[in-house]
Amino acid sequence: MKDFIDQLPKAELHLHLEGSLEPELMLQLATRNGITLPYADVNEIRRAYQFNNLQDFLDIYYQGAGVLQTEQDFFDLTWAYLQRCKAQGVVHTEPFYDPQTHTERGIPFEVAIHGISAALKQGEVELGISSYLILSFLRHLSEEAALDTLAQALPYRDLFVAVGLDSSEVGNPPEKFTRVYAKAKAEGFKCVAHAGEEGPAAYVWGALDALGVDRIDHGVRSIEDPTLMQRLIDEEITLTVCPLSNTKLRVFDDMRDHTILQMLDRGVKVTVNSDDPAYFGGYVGENYLALHAALGMTKVQARQLAVNSIEGSFLPLLEQQRIISQILNT
Ligand code: ADE
Ligand code: ZN
Repeated sequence: MKDFIDQLPKAELHLHLEGSLEPELMLQLATRNGITLPYADVNEIRRAYQFNNLQDFLDIYYQGAGVLQTEQDFFDLTWAYLQRCKAQGVVHTEPFYDPQTHTERGIPFEVAIHGISAALKQGEVELGISSYLILSFLRHLSEEAALDTLAQALPYRDLFVAVGLDSSEVGNPPEKFTRVYAKAKAEGFKCVAHAGEEGPAAYVWGALDALGVDRIDHGVRSIEDPTLMQRLIDEEITLTVCPLSNTKLRVFDDMRDHTILQMLDRGVKVTVNSDDPAYFGGYVGENYLALHAALGMTKVQARQLAVNSIEGSFLPLLEQQRIISQILNT
């Protein structure tokens, strides 16, 4: 199954670049930048990755991102992720990055975007991986802060395909960001948002209706609401599901309880993604393999998940069709 999964052309639609910071690179960048981490070595870092919920993880994730200081750091982070993509058959990726994670600690907006976009360009040329970047707002901060971030991004408009919404979900409903999404849409951005990860199905309704999103990140709690499930099926709304993330953050206690294949078999456009692979135990390939090991995912289901990832992407239709024909021949 591993060889099949690695050879299966696929897109990754839910990946936080800051969440791909492996402990080895974190230590290397801390040394390079003269930063003291509260860990002596890689093993100690890995031991700290025990989470009971999303907030436990976010606290460690923002701390880890503190080692990213220079354009070169952001380049190295992004380049390391693209090499994982290459090894696992990811032909197209739509990664998030959170500008506010960096501007809030005094790193100018242009530092991260220059480093990331240079690596993505090189990935296209040298690795043949296409990528569309998503600017993600931190939902625990205010809508004014998100509007300010959007304004800072406008000079780099061509480097982004969409805006997204992440960080602490419960207590920060989509409706808080109605104005910023309206503005982003008017500027021509596609829209996505995390919803229904820890938050209720009502947040998925909010993301669809108040924000007008093109797809939902996570969305697994939609299964609690039959009317919403029917809407997702009827309107062919893509969900970017992240199985290893969901078990690490206790959205599901065990991979055997995960509902992604039930949703797939009911006709929901679910996809498989890694979210924060350095923290959750694997990249996109390991996520597919976990579904095979725990839920008996078949090759037919894996192909459908890969087709969904391409159809749910923001790639032009002709390019989608080209990749889908390769998937069906794998
Ligand atoms: N930021 C990084 N990963 C996240 C997740 N899974 N949910 C919300 N915010 C995030
Ligand atoms: Zn996420």
